Amino acid sequence: MHIWLEKDPPLVVARVLVSDPWCKMVLQGEGVVEMGSVETIPNSVVVGIGKGGSCKTTLSTQLAGIWSSEGKRILLADLDMQASATKVVGLDPSQHGDGRHLMDSIAYGDELATVKARDGLDIVVAGRHTKTLSNHLVTADTAAEAFALPFQKAALSGKYDRIVFDLPPSGSSRLADLAMQTGKYLLVPTSSGVDNIEGLRVLASELEELESNIVLLGVVMMKIGAGAPRKRAETRQQVSEILAGVADPFQTIIRDAGAAYDDSRKASLFLHEYAEWATTVSVASQIKSKIRIPGNLADLAREFYELADEVDDRIAKADELLGGGDV
Ligand SMILES: Nc1ncnc2c1ncn2[C@@H]1O[C@H](COP(=O)(O)OP(=O)(O)OP(=O)(O)O)[C@@H](O)[C@H]1O
Ligand SMILES: [Mg+2]
Repeated sequence: MHIWLEKDPPLVVARVLVSDPWCKMVLQGEGVVEMGSVETIPNSVVVGIGKGGSCKTTLSTQLAGIWSSEGKRILLADLDMQASATKVVGLDPSQHGDGRHLMDSIAYGDELATVKARDGLDIVVAGRHTKTLSNHLVTADTAAEAFALPFQKAALSGKYDRIVFDLPPSGSSRLADLAMQTGKYLLVPTSSGVDNIEGLRVLASELEELESNIVLLGVVMMKIGAGAPRKRAETRQQVSEILAGVADPFQTIIRDAGAAYDDSRKASLFLHEYAEWATTVSVASQIKSKIRIPGNLADLAREFYELADEVDDRIAKADELLGGGDV
């Protein structure tokens, strides 16, 4: 694996220049000298950048689900008023404050209320108040500090190993900008096709415009057919060219398997949970109960496990270079 910094003990050598819009950091000795004015949210992974339907929610929720099932303590923060991540984990936003918890915490300084979704997985629920909060933060002077504070407290409380943000579509909400400005690591999903690849090209300029210091972990290629090797190779090459050595695209590609994904959603289960459940249903009861388990479900679930491991590896390497989860 290759990331954008080389470690050459005892010095950390930055291969990226200050002027590089991808990563505005100057490393001197072993410390980060310049990291922007607002403190970063420790241990945070922002899943974002991308138009509607680019699989941000799928990626953030499935990774959060797998990591928590493996023993990590995860806080999943739903920042989208559509509350898609909240629904993926099986919660009804209207039963859990409809986004009020984050608003109360950011606007009034209340302690951030979270809802338990699974063992090891809490969620900051979104909903209609998420939009009010976003509008409120458009005019707030110290919006970035106010946004980051509850999450910094959550990270420093020692209750969570990782905070995963699910962002709304780019440009649609102030909250997306603020998460990009205060998050530590960024994961970007993309699919194949001209529109998606063109969308990736604006990534660097979006980060520059936001004056974001977020560190790009990589781009995840999603919804690309397992039986389309040429398309996979072509997309990988296009993504690599756009990233130009800043971060390799992840090795794992998530296959196009809409039916399997939709079935897991209908069951209000994560893919890995649904795949696990499917192994317990005998062929006889599948026929009797007219349950049709998609043939590619296990492969899809496996790909998310592999991806979760890859992301873990990159976080570990980047943490080593940047100094762990320190602010
Ligand atoms: N592996 C897959 N194969 C095919 N379709 C998929 C796969 N995974 C997710 N999808 C579908 O892709 C669509 C978009 O997914 P998702 O909601 O994650 O996108 P998003 O970027 O979060 O969208 P928004 O910007 O609206 O929040 C959904 O309809 C989902 O069912
Ligand atoms: Mg979404």
